[in-house]
Amino acid sequence: MFTIDNGNPFECGEDCLIIGLKQIPDKFGGRLSGLDKIFEGELKELVKSGDVSAHFGSLSTVHTLGKLPVKRLLFIGLGKPKEMKKEGLKKAFGKVFKHVRKMRWSSAGIFLDTFITEKIGPVGTAAALGEALPMAVYQFPGYKRKPNIPDVQIEKTVVYSGCNEEELMAALHAGYVYGKAVNSARTLVNMPSNLLTAEELSAFARRLAEKYGFELEILEKTDMEKLGMGALLAVNQGSNAPAKMIVLKYEGKTEWKDVLGLVGKGVTFDTGGYSLKTKTGIVGMKTDMAGAAAVLGAMEVIGELQPAQNVVAVIPATDNMVSGGAFKPDDVITSLSGKTIEVLNTDAEGRLILADAVTYAKHHGADYIVDVATLAGGVVTALGLDKTGAMANDDAFFGQVLEASREAGEFIWRLPITEADKERVRSSKIADLNNSPGREGHAIMGGAFIGEFAENTPWVHLDIAGTATTGKDTELGPAGATGVMVRTLAVLAERMAARI
Ligand code: BES
Ligand code: ZN
Ligand code: ZN
Repeated sequence: MFTIDNGNPFECGEDCLIIGLKQIPDKFGGRLSGLDKIFEGELKELVKSGDVSAHFGSLSTVHTLGKLPVKRLLFIGLGKPKEMKKEGLKKAFGKVFKHVRKMRWSSAGIFLDTFITEKIGPVGTAAALGEALPMAVYQFPGYKRKPNIPDVQIEKTVVYSGCNEEELMAALHAGYVYGKAVNSARTLVNMPSNLLTAEELSAFARRLAEKYGFELEILEKTDMEKLGMGALLAVNQGSNAPAKMIVLKYEGKTEWKDVLGLVGKGVTFDTGGYSLKTKTGIVGMKTDMAGAAAVLGAMEVIGELQPAQNVVAVIPATDNMVSGGAFKPDDVITSLSGKTIEVLNTDAEGRLILADAVTYAKHHGADYIVDVATLAGGVVTALGLDKTGAMANDDAFFGQVLEASREAGEFIWRLPITEADKERVRSSKIADLNNSPGREGHAIMGGAFIGEFAENTPWVHLDIAGTATTGKDTELGPAGATGVMVRTLAVLAERMAARI
């Protein structure tokens, strides 16, 4: 995808040359002074007249009219260098590449050094570029006879830079791996549930295992019955598609200890069961496996970059359907942990399947657990659509997840779980727990319930009900699935490997 050229960017022969323009007094000084000479001061005039702007996100095309081998320069405003953050830089790259694709140019040159700032540096800039490009141009192919994929794609990206080539290539590659993994997760989430069943999800996991040498275990219903995974089995009871418990193991250390457990909700479609969703609320419930997709995306990054960290991924996969055999409100079920659960709401199914998955992650030696789930609409009421809700039983481990999310550029915000909250999920008169103690603090109730199964293992719950999908196109991707938390989970594994 990327090649590095340490020659003169103004000899670039691609369809366009992308240049970052910083909001500083001498915009065409330093690295751009050569360019200004070629244009005999005309570029400065274009800035004066407002045709070219260094304001953040401002995009302008300047035709070279034979003065350079490249046909046009594409300027992207970066704003004030001191205010620039990695997230902004990714957005700027994303905006440019969306434009390149729209214009149907198949190759682009990038004058990378014009994007580098003191704070972000060459490696950070290259990583941002590597990640932003695949994310920005992502499109779900869809199922039209003529697919939603442009006939001209960006095939060649030449990075012009005078910086250390080896370091740049490693950073571009790592960034690209992250971006591609986000896209893999997006595609899984965008797929409809008739085409992405639990079986298909397990086939995807199998392909990952084959590609990266992960140890793979897929539990079938008979295995679950033997083990006593009553919670996952209960949710699957109304379905024609058998549930799967998918386990992937990545051994990054010589010994199987210090294991990070990643658990992702894999409800391929959530009708709500007998606590049926409304005809509007049910639409979009194919995305209820976004937690599973995030975990699989993170495993893709881990497989590519091979951090020195043990990781076990556990994905409970099923749909939540209505039928003569389906589980019902008032049912009492026994989870893998032995704890019994009174089902008050069959639409609170995520926490049930996660209960068994968290217990199973512990069986596989997980010493830390992060679960990711589209768990409760209440998290949207609490935090809006741009923040993932977090809950935790361990401040230090939460701190690590928070740092990872900051490095990844994904927003998480912690909600508390109090003793009173725990009492509420334990308030059933006939079972150890109940799965729906009422409307108040919806998102927290979900977290508190799963926490009963994490017990003393340091654990963080990430509720992505608001962030897994978006209704808006952004600089870094189209409306639809976002692939949220792929990067946070992968950064967490990398940071744990580096003992940060
Ligand atoms: N899958 C839903 C949560 C959800 C809602 C995800 C909107 C994405 C968008 C979950 O299984 C659910 O139905 N939760 C209930 C919880 C309640 C029954 C305790 C909810 O949000 O109302
Ligand atoms: Zn539900
Ligand atoms: Zn659900």
